[in-house]
Amino acid sequence: MSQIRAAITGVQGYVPDYILTNAELEKMVDTTDEWITTRTGIKERRILKGEGLGTSYLGAQAVKGLLEKTNTAPQDIDLLICATTTPDFVFPGTANLICNMVGIKDIGSFDVQAACSGFLYALTVGTQFIETGKYRKIIVVGADKMSAIVDYQDRTTCVLFGDGAGAVLLEPTTNGLGVLDTIIRSDGAGQPHLHQKAGGSRYPPTHDTVDKRWHYAYQDGPAVFKFAVVNMANVSAEIMQRNHLTGDDVAWLVPHQANKRIILATANRMNIGMDKVMLNIHKYGNTTAATIPLCLWDYESQLKKGDNLVLAAFGGGFTWGAAYLKWAY
Ligand code: UT7
Repeated sequence: MSQIRAAITGVQGYVPDYILTNAELEKMVDTTDEWITTRTGIKERRILKGEGLGTSYLGAQAVKGLLEKTNTAPQDIDLLICATTTPDFVFPGTANLICNMVGIKDIGSFDVQAACSGFLYALTVGTQFIETGKYRKIIVVGADKMSAIVDYQDRTTCVLFGDGAGAVLLEPTTNGLGVLDTIIRSDGAGQPHLHQKAGGSRYPPTHDTVDKRWHYAYQDGPAVFKFAVVNMANVSAEIMQRNHLTGDDVAWLVPHQANKRIILATANRMNIGMDKVMLNIHKYGNTTAATIPLCLWDYESQLKKGDNLVLAAFGGGFTWGAAYLKWAY
């Protein structure tokens, strides 16, 4: 029997209704639609409004839709992994909350924290459980309510981020399709350039940390840009090389959506045209762990069984990585 691989057998996204446009941001901070569009490619992003709704709400909507769409009963799921940087609580895990909200009971569920590379990391973890034969149905969710940690007085970050969630179902296959290779990397020396300083154990919340605005996401944009451009392009080239893929072999690049310019540089390095690059940054902005599954959801109808996909991401940590898979349906 040929090797067991983990195949994505369904994908579902969820974005909240409220649309925060560049025009509205122009009224909030000193920025322009022209600056945001040319520097990032973003036109609008979705924001979750409503008292007491956290990332679990976004994730649960995506998972509910996924279960319905794939005709899967909650009790058939063996494991749920949620990648997020904006958990509802420090504890318990957002994956635990999502399971409870959708009626999945008595299984293992846990969060993965790898910032914008979170979905790739969680997919990599889920893949191992399928490949060993231990589990047969795993849900991997990428969900972030970035608006909870964005400082809407900081024009360098508030124009970038949005809220959303995407979920995939992983199941075993022996027909040569599915996830064929993954690479995950990290470098904690990147912490000063991209982080949320307070609220964790190093700087627990105090009046002082609130006054200093340390509970918001901080990013040194140009420093992160340099690392992101190099590492996302390198890791994509590496996964192509070690799987003997040329640009012609790749049907789709599925890149993390942080900046259109970073995506362009990655596509150039892979020697593929922009017609083969999934892009939705213009409508959702950077939804952190949700960008890649939201792309798969948006482009699902264009995907064909056997298509070679390269997923690539870069984010806080620093973390980065890539995955090579053959689309399974
Ligand atoms: O997803 C996680 C990983 N994150 C990333 O990959 C993001 C990587 N970084 C980036 O995408 C880009 O660095 C940004 C989009 C964040 C910024 O673009 P940039 O081309 O690197 O701009 P910059 O930060 O160098 O700023 C250029 C100028 C500055 O003004 P001066 O110093 O030239 O007068 C900024 O103050 O643009 C100014 N600026 C703005 N102007 C209007 C910064 N933000 C804004 C803004 N509107 N929103």
